[in-house]
Amino acid sequence: MLLTDAQKRMLDGQQGMAVRKAMELLVAVGDCFDAQEMVPISSAHLVSATPTTAGKAGVKFILGMKEMGGRFVVPVTTNPNCVEPFEWERMDFPKDLRDASKALSQSLAEMGAFNTQTCTPYLIGHAPAYRQHLAWGESSAIVYANSRIGSRTNREGGPTALASAITGLTPNYGLHLPANRIPTLQIRIDIPLRDEYEYALAGYYTGRISEDRVPLITGMPANVSLDELKCFGAAAAVSGSVALFHAQGVTPEAIANEEIVKARITDSDTYRFGTEELKAMQELVGAEAIRQANLVILGCPHASIAQLRNWAMQVEGKKVKSSIEFWILSSNVVKSYARDLGYLDIFERAGIRLVANTCPASMPRDHFKSKGFHWVVTNSPKLRYYASTRQGIQAYCSSLEAILGHCLTTR
Ligand code: F3S
Repeated sequence: MLLTDAQKRMLDGQQGMAVRKAMELLVAVGDCFDAQEMVPISSAHLVSATPTTAGKAGVKFILGMKEMGGRFVVPVTTNPNCVEPFEWERMDFPKDLRDASKALSQSLAEMGAFNTQTCTPYLIGHAPAYRQHLAWGESSAIVYANSRIGSRTNREGGPTALASAITGLTPNYGLHLPANRIPTLQIRIDIPLRDEYEYALAGYYTGRISEDRVPLITGMPANVSLDELKCFGAAAAVSGSVALFHAQGVTPEAIANEEIVKARITDSDTYRFGTEELKAMQELVGAEAIRQANLVILGCPHASIAQLRNWAMQVEGKKVKSSIEFWILSSNVVKSYARDLGYLDIFERAGIRLVANTCPASMPRDHFKSKGFHWVVTNSPKLRYYASTRQGIQAYCSSLEAILGHCLTTR
């Protein structure tokens, strides 16, 4: 890699050991991917910032960097915590894990992080700009930043995002390079998508077809909402490893970038998402009966205030059946906003818990089983994946309409 004189001095240790170690890691990654240079980043989002996802080695790495003087030189936010940090006792999370996660969060804060503990940092102020380079982890946030915003980030792991946060640099390869952002297949949406769940199903189909390629999506309406795109991207990232999609007439590069607008995609690389495909995806993620569920989770990715308002209006005056535990996941910032606007009261009266700053993907393995949850229903294919793989329980998807219809009774 061609390093500038300033970057060479960082690598030589002239800015301290933490910067040196971080540079060594980034240069090694850059060499692996034939990067020619480093690019400055505008921000980082850290996954593996809690003991369960970082593991012992990850925690040691973060604390080691801190002890060597590592400090963040760009804005940094963090992904969901392993326990609900505010109501952990009421939710029966183990105290030792809460203490360990609190200590790690404190260390990250001392290094300069905002402990947002959410997978939707872009909803609470961490909103990068078009074409800015980033070092973000969290597949749903990455695909959102690359696609909806037009920022540029690879799918970073915990150590590389941390190293970038300390140096302000990332190797210039992958999705940082315009040539790798050009779509090579097309998904044509041929039916109107009626709600966030159907967007998620279209995203799930897109991920299965695309794998790690960049798809061009046609047929999305220009007024598609932030939350619909968020659900589409999260599902595409979990069924494939889609880190970027372009939606014709919707996402910024698919509007502004001539090469993307005119990308030549052959007929054999064009796929259709119609009624049959929608039905097939429904059967794939939600074939089993909803009535077996004793846990319901909405808010994957973490809910926005617009979603909370919509859901609060639908549950007002109703009550969750006593056999069912009903959670909505969000960030504590959005939860506070919901409290101010009166939505939290509505949820509490309905028996719905607004769970802040955590997620089943970062909770201790098999936590659900130990609490007696054996069957979860959700409207998010990504949540379904983590509830079954990490929490080891039956997990299925259904539409919001079907979920609310089954779970709620009139008060
Ligand atoms: Fe966020 Fe967890 Fe879903 S990290 S995207 S709520 S699986």
